[in-house]
Amino acid sequence: MSGHGTPTPMTSHCAEPLKGTAEVPGDKSISHRSLILGAMAIGETKISGLLEGDDVLDTAKAMQAFGAEVTNHGGGNWSVHGVGVGGFAEPDQVIDCGNSGTGVRLIMGCMATSPISVTFTGDASLNGRPMARVTDPLALFGTKAVGRKGGRLPMTIVGAAEPTPVRYVVPVPSAQVKSAVLLAGLNAPGKTVVIEKEATRDHSERMLAGFGAEITVEDTDEGRVITLTGQPELKPQVIAVPRDPSSAAFPVCAALVTPGSDVLVPGIGLNPTRAGLFYTLQDMGADLTFENPREEGGEPVADLRAKFSPNMQGIEVPPERAASMIDEYPVLSVVASFATGKTMMAGVKELRVKESDRIDAMARGLRANGVTVDEGEDWWSVEGLGPDGVLGGGTCESFLDHRIAMSFMVMGMGAQNSVTVDDGNPITTSFPIFEPLMTGLGAKLSKG
Ligand code: S3P
Repeated sequence: MSGHGTPTPMTSHCAEPLKGTAEVPGDKSISHRSLILGAMAIGETKISGLLEGDDVLDTAKAMQAFGAEVTNHGGGNWSVHGVGVGGFAEPDQVIDCGNSGTGVRLIMGCMATSPISVTFTGDASLNGRPMARVTDPLALFGTKAVGRKGGRLPMTIVGAAEPTPVRYVVPVPSAQVKSAVLLAGLNAPGKTVVIEKEATRDHSERMLAGFGAEITVEDTDEGRVITLTGQPELKPQVIAVPRDPSSAAFPVCAALVTPGSDVLVPGIGLNPTRAGLFYTLQDMGADLTFENPREEGGEPVADLRAKFSPNMQGIEVPPERAASMIDEYPVLSVVASFATGKTMMAGVKELRVKESDRIDAMARGLRANGVTVDEGEDWWSVEGLGPDGVLGGGTCESFLDHRIAMSFMVMGMGAQNSVTVDDGNPITTSFPIFEPLMTGLGAKLSKG
């Protein structure tokens, strides 16, 4: 839904050692895709472990508006009775995707090749984000889009009645753009080809194959070439959503910066297109280990054990790793503040068009807490102050961005003084149990 109610400040006070097990919720990317592909299959898809954050709940409502039957059975168990590829009805209301870029871009893709018109909106953050990156390739199918200046929401998409398949080289490293084109290709006759120069999260490819679509992926000199044959009959699936590595990042990083901590975060997907943060933390010298490595639902999974790590060093994060940890730079910059020496993060221009301009949002908040940050258009660096050198005491704006709010809560746990964000409400978009989970480990969070 658009908006998060009256802003509620949230403060993180210097924590006791964090101890125990942190069972983080389901993966946000896989949750969106489970609902959308379930709605495009014929028959009943059963989903367990669905993330019940606002972003995903908005996608569930959207799928209902397109005619799918979406049922919440409680305890993270959901079912979707799909209408089939090309079976979407025209919603009689505006589709409100709240805060979710993934939600709106994937849903635009999945309706773009059906003969229906749909108007999309979102909250102030989403309505400021660029949509041309999706509507440009959708236009190649014959889809029309009319939005505000700069390709912003609210926007009406008129689906192509007679779509033609496309060949598209994705110009920015974006799984959302790749996925929107693939989802549109589902209802176009013939082969839709998407080429990405840098590999981004591959959940859409894996899940489309799981739902029975004909899809191939080839690594070539041009990049990753994904070929999808249109107009398949998607078969309903039974999906157990793995726990979200992007949410696991918060208890893991909190443990690394809070003296005396030892936290287990079980069952985290280590899909190489998502796990970049954990390898970066290990490169910095973090006491972070992968226990009980195994495979679940075709994905590598492990239990993460994170302990207080007073000897971390600043590093140059390899730019080619950026796509695999794009949502984790905010919390990495907090960890970097507790390391010794400079951490350089380059090749990260995409951070400027997330739920907020994440380089700007983090730089302001880090400076308010005594940390030196330098930045350019596609890079930033943080001067580490060592394990007990972060002053804290600052109040930071969260800019309607869940990951900014949670990152500063982590900072407060290890800093000398409390850290406050002006609004903790956005946290429910991706991690609705953040507060009880972190306080259960020993964090001291207060609201108001
Ligand atoms: C997502 C892709 C990423 C990521 C977002 C989720 C997805 O965005 O930041 O949180 O589920 O496809 P981009 O594809 O725009 O990089």
